[in-house]
Amino acid sequence: MRQLILVLCLTLITPAFAGIAAVAAPDRASAAIGEAVIRSGGNAADAAVAIGFALAVTFPEAGNLGGGGFVTVKFGSESQFLDFRETAPRAASRDMYLDENGNVIPKLSLIGHRAAGVPGTVAGLWALHQRFGSKSWAELLAPAIQLAEEGFEPEQKLRDLISEARSDFAGKTNFDRYFAAAIRITTDGEKFRQPELAATLRRIAAQGPAGFYSGETAALIVAEMRRGGGLITLDDLTDYQPRWRTPLTAQWRDYTLISAPPPSSGGIALVQLLRMKDLLKESFAGVEHNSTRYVHLIAEIQKQVFADRAEYLGDPDFVVVPVDALIAPEYLAKRVAEVRVDAPSAPQSVRPGLDEPRETTHYSILDAAGNAISLTYTLNGSFGSGVVVEGAGFLLNNEMDDFSTKPGQPNLYGVVGGTANAIAPGKRMLSSMTPTLLVKDDQVRGIYGTPGGSTIFTAVFQTLINLKDFGMSAEQAVSAARFHHQLLPPNVIIYSRCCRLAPETVSELRTMGYRVDPSSWEFGDMQIIDIKDNGEVSAASDVRGRGESRVFALEH
Ligand code: DON
Repeated sequence: MRQLILVLCLTLITPAFAGIAAVAAPDRASAAIGEAVIRSGGNAADAAVAIGFALAVTFPEAGNLGGGGFVTVKFGSESQFLDFRETAPRAASRDMYLDENGNVIPKLSLIGHRAAGVPGTVAGLWALHQRFGSKSWAELLAPAIQLAEEGFEPEQKLRDLISEARSDFAGKTNFDRYFAAAIRITTDGEKFRQPELAATLRRIAAQGPAGFYSGETAALIVAEMRRGGGLITLDDLTDYQPRWRTPLTAQWRDYTLISAPPPSSGGIALVQLLRMKDLLKESFAGVEHNSTRYVHLIAEIQKQVFADRAEYLGDPDFVVVPVDALIAPEYLAKRVAEVRVDAPSAPQSVRPGLDEPRETTHYSILDAAGNAISLTYTLNGSFGSGVVVEGAGFLLNNEMDDFSTKPGQPNLYGVVGGTANAIAPGKRMLSSMTPTLLVKDDQVRGIYGTPGGSTIFTAVFQTLINLKDFGMSAEQAVSAARFHHQLLPPNVIIYSRCCRLAPETVSELRTMGYRVDPSSWEFGDMQIIDIKDNGEVSAASDVRGRGESRVFALEH
C-alpha cells in the first residue's frame, strides 16, 4: 500500500497529543527509518536527522549532502527556523554567468561545477541535532550508512529519473559513472550500492561537520572543483555556517502560521496568498474548488505575489527585506483592490506594490510529545549540477541558478529577479521553499511542505485551502489538481500533469484570455501531517511522488 493513513482519536489520550506520532516522507525507506527512530525513543529532530541522511542515499535526485535547505521547528512552546541554505563561494561575482556581451551563458548556472553553491546540509542537520536532538549522532547516521553500503532496490520512479538525467548530463559531468548502475539492475533483489558515499557518511558519523567541511571529504570536494573549474575552496567550506533565524509568524484566521522567512520567499508569499484570499471573501463566496472563477481569482493574487517577490526579496544578511510591510493587512488590502474579478489583469500593469524601496524534497514529522519538524532540502534541479564528488560519492547542487543571473532573466523555474537577489560572495540565493507549521492554542495543527521550485508556496497555499475551506481529508488535499501562475510568462496557467483541471474549466479560462497548459514536469510532492481540532491526526503523501505516510501510537 503506497500510503498508510491511520486516523486516531486523541480525545482518549491525556495530555492532548501525547503518544501519537506521524511521519510523511518522500520514500518508503525514509518513512520506515523515521518511524523506527521515534519508536525507539527518539524525538522529531532525531527522526529528521536520520531521514535527512537516508534520503541522501535513497532519494539522490533531491536528498543530499551536497545541497541545502530549511527547517521549521516547534519543540514545546519554542518555535525556530534553521537556514542551512547554500552560499555563493567567495570567488562568485554578480556577472559570473554572463559572456563578454552581457548575455547569459546557457546552462552554466545549472550543469557542472560552477553551478554549485557551498553546501549547507551537513552543518544544518548537525545544528538541528545539537539544539533539539536526544539520540547519539552516530546512531542516527547508521541507517543511511547501511543503505549506502549494502545497497537498496531503486524504485521505478527513481530509475526513470536517472534515465532522464543521464541524457541531460551526458558528456558534461561524471553523473553516469555513479548512477548508471542503478538502472542496470535487472535481477530481482539486486541492489544499488554506493561505497564512496558510505565512507563519507562514516566520516560524518565519526567527526560531525568536520567529517564534511574539513579533512578528507573537504579535500575531495576541493579536488573535484579543481578538476572541473568550480569555485568552492577549502576556506568556503570552513567558513560555512547555518543560521538560526526568527521564523516568519503570522496570524491566519484562528491559527498562527509559522513558516520560512527570507532568504526564502515562501513564508511571505504564503501569508500574502492566504490573507489576500480572505480579503476577497465576497468574490470567493460560493466559488467551487478549481472552477474557472476560482482558478482565475487565485491567478490574480498570484500575480501580485510574484511581482513583489521579484523586486524585494533576497538574503536578509545582504539586503533589507521589508517583511512586515509585505504581509501587513493594510498593504494587502491595497493589493487586492488591483485584482480584476472578471478578466485577467494586464501583466505589465502588475508592479511591485510597496511605496518604498526541479527536485527538492520535503518531510514532515510529529513526535509523540507533540513536537513538529517541517524540513525541505534540495539540490535545486533533479540531481543538482550532475557533478558527483569523486571519491566521496555525493552530488553537488546547482543552487547558484536561484540567484538572478541577470536582472529580468528567468531561472530554471521561469522566475525573474532584480538586484535584491544578485550574486555576491557569501550570499544566500533566494528560495521558494516553504516548510510550514500551523499552530492553535500552542498546539501543532499542521505540518506542510513540498518541492516544486516557484510552485512550492502556491502548492502549500492550495493544500491549506483544500483542507480548511473545502473540508478535504489530508489525502484528498494533497492529491487534488493544482495550478500555478507566476506573472511571467504573461497570463500562463500551468496545471499538474497527474491530476488535471476539468476540460471545461480549461476551455473557459482560455476564453478569458489565459494560456492553460499541463506542466511539462510533475510539480510538487506534498508531505503533510494534519491535526484536526478534535485531535485526529492524519498524514498524507502526494500521489505525484513515491512517498509514504504513517501515523502510529506509542505504547507507554
Ligand atoms: O530553493 C528553491 O526555491 C529551489 N531551489 C527549489 C527547487 C525545487 O523545489 C525543485 N523541485 N522540483
